[in-house]
This record gives sequence, structure tokens and C-alpha cells, in this order.
Amino acid sequence: MRTQIISMNEETMDKDALAQAGRIIKSGGLVAFPTETVYGLGGDALQEESAARIYRAKGRPSDNPLIVHICRMEDLPALVGQVPEAAKKLAKAFWPGPLTMVFQKSEKVPRATTGGLDTVAVRMPGHKVALAFIEAAGGYVAAPSANLSGRPSPTAAKYVKEDMDGRIEMIIDGGGDAIGLESTIVDLTAPVPVILRPGYITKAMLQEVLGEVLVDRAIMESDSKRPPRAPGMKYRHYAPKGELTILSGRQESVVGEINRRTKQKQEKGEKVGVIGTEGTVADYLADSVKCAGDRKDEEAIAKALYRILREFDEEGVTVIYSECFGDTAGDGLGQAIMNRLLKAAGHRLEDVSEVVLAKSL
Ligand code: TXA
Ligand code: MG
Repeated sequence: MRTQIISMNEETMDKDALAQAGRIIKSGGLVAFPTETVYGLGGDALQEESAARIYRAKGRPSDNPLIVHICRMEDLPALVGQVPEAAKKLAKAFWPGPLTMVFQKSEKVPRATTGGLDTVAVRMPGHKVALAFIEAAGGYVAAPSANLSGRPSPTAAKYVKEDMDGRIEMIIDGGGDAIGLESTIVDLTAPVPVILRPGYITKAMLQEVLGEVLVDRAIMESDSKRPPRAPGMKYRHYAPKGELTILSGRQESVVGEINRRTKQKQEKGEKVGVIGTEGTVADYLADSVKCAGDRKDEEAIAKALYRILREFDEEGVTVIYSECFGDTAGDGLGQAIMNRLLKAAGHRLEDVSEVVLAKSL
């Protein structure tokens, strides 16, 4: 299959191309499109065969449910029956935007789309091209992130092309820059709303609208201990090809320990990559050193993370060390960054303050 690539941004919307993209979806095809978080791989949410095609294109297990993307609040009731009060409040505060809500599903949503679940995840993305595309496609676009299963979510159209060229009908290149991490997912089917995946919309922001909000404890723990409630969170996706370890502790300890390990690995013939920050990148000895941004600028780090992991793959890096960003127990964007980084690292996180301290005594 030849994959057609069309470019437009929020200012240069191409009506004809959008209509063509809409026809592709309606006839059961797949179109990758930009959102304000990461690129999505869209298919018709109401056609069973479209969901099957999405799973095939991604190489993804079909028990991993898809998010249904909508472009108008009026389209929500058809998917979920009764819209809970909490959802109305959250939609008012955060839609269109990087928030996904989980509801009881209606008959209209095929189980092929929800990975066999009785619930459905819905999001109205905050990107004008995405909204226009969803409208052209009939209003209901099921879309996972547009990466091959096991690869980081694509933060630019060129990464979608890397993974999806020849597998789907069209890629809409939206240019611009995205948040870089997937949407926050909140489950509204429980008595108290539960965050299933942390993201740009933080717990504090949700609590301001809803009052009490819980966080699924499986989010930050290693995958084996407890099954997470968002089925997709159990897979070790976002994984780079190189073995990633996160080192935390005082800055000098982390830099020193990463350099010590780097030398050891290089002697064994490994190619080492490091994810550092503005104040530290000059001090690393690795083969490939990437700057995630200013340590205090979580938005910059969120934007850079998946790009850096993909670049390491391209460069053939076999071992990766990363500094630790933000507080795993905190609830800002740092928590979302660490959630993705920990998954990519298969939960290898070591505090090295003690190690280096002991050596220097
Ligand atoms: O920002 C985003 O959410 C991006 C863009 C494209 O919208 N999409 C995205 O989709 O990240 P995906 O498929 O890569 O991740 C969807 C997550 C998975 O972890 C999945 O298990 C969870 O949402 N999910 C979907 N439906 C669910 C449901 N009914 N109940 C619980 N979790 C659900
Ligand atoms: Mg994904």
C-alpha cells in the first residue's frame, strides 16, 4: 500500500484533503493525524473491521482498547448513554484537550474497539486539524498512538512515517509541536474518579473541578505487582532498543556514576547513550549525549523524551542511562514523565547517592 502524506497546520487547513481523509476512514481505511499530545492512528470507531486493521497496522494485541476521539460534545451521549455530571464538568474545563474519560459504553460502540470491555475511553483533542479531520470522518475516530507496538509514541509526522509507511492509507502532517506525552486518562465508572494514566492534566487540576480523585496505584509500580486498570499500561511499550536505566540522587553522584558505568560498558563494546539536562550534558562521556532541557522545565522534558528515545534507536545505542526527572510521588507533569520513563526502563531505577558517596570516603 502506498501511504499518502499531506501537510497542513491550524492556519492552512486543506478542506479537500480533509474530505479525502474522511472518506478513507468511512470506507474502513486508516489515517494518522496530529493531536496536541502525540500523533494518532485513526480508524472508524464504529466499524469492527477498522479496529482490527488498527491492531494489525500497529502489531498490537487486540485486548488493548482504543480511545474514541470526538469533535463535538453532542456526539458523546451516543457512545455512553447517560453522561455523568462529573464528565460534563471535566469536559467544560478541559475539552478540547489532553484528557481522556472512561465511561460505560453504549450498544453503538463495538467491543472490537474497546478490547472486549464494557467501558469506552473518549477524548476530544485540542488540535484544530484533528477536530476537522474527526468531523470529516463522521465524528467517531478510534485512535491509539500512531507508533508500532513497542516503539515510543510519535511526536512528529516523520516518526509516524518511520513506523507506518506502507501500512496505512494516509498521514496528515500537522507540523507544530505537541505536548509530547499521551493524554491523562480518568476512569469515571468508579464511585470516585481514578486516574489510570498520568498526563498534562494533573491530579490537582482534576481535583479542582471534581473534589476527590484517586490515582491507580499500579501507575508507578513495577508491572508485575498489580495489574493496572488501563489495560494498555501493562505492556512495556515506549521501550527503546537499548537497555535503559534511570539513576537518581545528588547531581554529582549521578553524573559520576553514569560516567563510571559508561566506561565499563564501552570496554565491553556497548554503545552508550545518556539523557542529561542543561547543567550536566557537558560532563558526560557517553557515545551519544542528549539534552532533555532545563531540569526545572517539565514541559520541555515532556516534549523531548520520545524523540530522544527514537534517536537512540536510530543511532544503534545499546545501553542508555537517564537522569531522573521530577518526583515519582508528586502529581505534576513530572509524574507523567517518570511514568513513561519508568516503563521504558522496565522499572530499572537506582538511587546512586550512597554508592558514590561510599567510594569517595
Ligand atoms: O494522547 C492520547 O491519548 C493519544 C492520542 C492519539 O489521542 N492516544 C493514545 O492511545 O495514547 P493509546 O492507544 O496509545 O493508549 C490508550 C490507553 C491504553 O493504555 C488503553 O489501555 C487505555 O488507554 N484505555 C483505552 N480504553 C480504555 C478503557 N475502556 N478502560 C481503561 N483503559 C482504557
Ligand atoms: Mg500508545
